[in-house]
Amino acid sequence: MRDARGNPVGTASPQALAHAETALWRMCSFYDAPLADIDAAIAADPHWMLPHVMRASFLLTLTEPSLLPDVRAALDQADLLAAGAPERERAHWAAASRCASGDWHGACAAWERILLDHPRDLHALQWAHLFDFYRGDARNLRGRVARVLPEWPADDALRPYLLGMHAFGLEESNLHAQAETAGREALAAEPRVPWATHAVAHVMEMQGRHAEGVAWLSAQSTAWQQGNGFAGHLWWHLALFHLEAMDLAGALALYDATQGSAHAVLTLQRLDGAALLWRLKLLGADPGARWADLARGWDLTPRDAGHSAFNDAHALMALLGQGEAGAAQAFVAAVQRRAERGSDSNAAMAREVGLPLMRGLLAFDAGDAPAAIALLAPLRETAHRFGGSHAQRDLIELTLLAACALPGGSRALGRALLNERSLARDGTPQIHHWRERLALGATR
Ligand SMILES: [Fe+2]
Repeated sequence: MRDARGNPVGTASPQALAHAETALWRMCSFYDAPLADIDAAIAADPHWMLPHVMRASFLLTLTEPSLLPDVRAALDQADLLAAGAPERERAHWAAASRCASGDWHGACAAWERILLDHPRDLHALQWAHLFDFYRGDARNLRGRVARVLPEWPADDALRPYLLGMHAFGLEESNLHAQAETAGREALAAEPRVPWATHAVAHVMEMQGRHAEGVAWLSAQSTAWQQGNGFAGHLWWHLALFHLEAMDLAGALALYDATQGSAHAVLTLQRLDGAALLWRLKLLGADPGARWADLARGWDLTPRDAGHSAFNDAHALMALLGQGEAGAAQAFVAAVQRRAERGSDSNAAMAREVGLPLMRGLLAFDAGDAPAAIALLAPLRETAHRFGGSHAQRDLIELTLLAACALPGGSRALGRALLNERSLARDGTPQIHHWRERLALGATR
């Protein structure tokens, strides 16, 4: 049998395939978790390898170290079924196994090899796209999608999801106009593509189009608000537009309604909350008890440190926000020990970006402007290597601006950073705010 895109599959059960197709759609669209559909596919054909690999790969994309035992169990189950599986499914097992061992770069290379033979293998593209994101690989966020997009017929029901990925890759490649066109094309074909909504919101964020951004996300909110695992991140983007307008009360209200412990299950969700509170603090708001609430249910002990440098940096913000300076130091020390010992993808990301960033955050929190600037300024050229988006990593730039404005900071560096920022976002209330903080006058 073959799936709807012509890829060979190791099942003869139409029911199993139908459940797997629903699971694939859920992974691309973020409408509910795909696990129940994967279980249904396994129940319909217990001898089919791919659903077990789907379970493992999906769980890996959540970047939770606590899920690794489940990942390995699913891969072990899949391995028992490998003898009767097509080559493509065995290749997926190999890619997921590499990813589970911490070799994120090798996993993406393995998914790419699958795409060379099966350019319409959306599983490979979806998982590689997310790990391109976690690896900060903008070149492949765009290029990997572009290498297969022309092979997809215009009437393929899942093509809008591919366009959404392409839009995000274009945005992360600073091709803003093309990104916005691709995102709008995806949504014209299918309104329920949150990744495309997200890509266009990123373009507006990068260009300081905060009023348009609020209108954009609000107009489409009926499509992404309900039953969508990505909604919390889109609410976060909406809050960023409020911050660009220096509407701190509006951003806090959005935080209270959509972030915090009542709304977060995964670290991926909690780190948006931490980043938003950190930005609010940088801009002069007092998050108060929100920090402690955010930490509820989030394991901020060193136990889980060292799996994702990006997540670790946000965990550190949550500790610093609560005033837990000692715990913050211990957390960074644990990340350092694991980065020194490790040979996996994340260990390199921690050494190159995560650790200097965390030390810079510690220095900033201690009010040591020269040390914060010395640690954070060089990261402007390298921070993409620890993953995330331009908008997420902008938090580093904002912290650097705030350090420049501290006693002992650097007005000259602050002015230079703000000059660069003003070219993209000139005239926004937040730009005026930083201009005043750095005593640069209202206008140049
Ligand atoms: Fe985003």
